[in-house]
Amino acid sequence: MNGVYMNILESIVNKLKSGQRVVVFTGAGVSAESGIPTFRDKLDGLWNRFSAEDLDCADGFKASPQLVWEWYAWRRKMIVDAKPNLAHHAIALMETLVPEFTLITQNVDGLHQRAGSTKVIELHGNIHRSRCFDEDIAIDKWAETDEVPPPCPHCGGMLRPDVVWFGEGLSGDTYGKAKEAIRNCTMLFSIGTSSQIYPAAVFPYEAAHRGAMVVQINPNPTDLDQVTSFILRGKAGECVNGCRLS
Ligand code: APR
Repeated sequence: MNGVYMNILESIVNKLKSGQRVVVFTGAGVSAESGIPTFRDKLDGLWNRFSAEDLDCADGFKASPQLVWEWYAWRRKMIVDAKPNLAHHAIALMETLVPEFTLITQNVDGLHQRAGSTKVIELHGNIHRSRCFDEDIAIDKWAETDEVPPPCPHCGGMLRPDVVWFGEGLSGDTYGKAKEAIRNCTMLFSIGTSSQIYPAAVFPYEAAHRGAMVVQINPNPTDLDQVTSFILRGKAGECVNGCRLS
């Protein structure tokens, strides 16, 4: 590891230790080292191999509910078989060391919680939960069935994954809590997101605009580079491995 990089890490850790109000904002890249594909990476990004219009929106689900349910079942299995990586663990550790800490994730994989994070705002839902497509209520259990998707135990309509699809709004409560954390933070880490999907993409800009220090961890350039105080240009797990937080 070179000296400049060590100096950057040291400045970040020293700032962290001085009673900051911290937001960590994550995207698919934080789970890449767990073997979960991102969405827009050139080689294996999901949206380079699959159609978001078919698989990630209400119209696609109405047209081919079985295909969409099975695609999510495939992703769910991949996630269940994966393990949190060093970055998930470092973020969970950070929560225990920083008095005012919020993790805002766009990820639906639940790997942050499996690493021990408890203060997690899941902006785009959670792939392990389901809800009724028609009634829009959470459904925990349903009868064993060969039907795909399984029918809702209340109304007989179709179940869908409890994730936010393109064209859908974020839950007001979730969004409100995330906005509040962004308004209050003095330091924001943006880790593994291309920062292209709104409204989440504006969070780092808003934090920077309010004077927060923005640190970005990403192996590739993003639009966010222009407002970032420090950029750690590398994989999340490798970058945090150089950091001694405790
Ligand atoms: N460590 C850190 N960052 C990484 C790594 C890694 N090991 N590997 C890839 N990245 C970076 C990529 O360079 C890219 O900037 O992670 C980012 C992933 O970007 P996207 O694939 O666009 O994922 P994300 O930003 O989370 O997408 C936002 O789009 O379709 C949706 O709902 C989906 O929540 C998702 C939203």
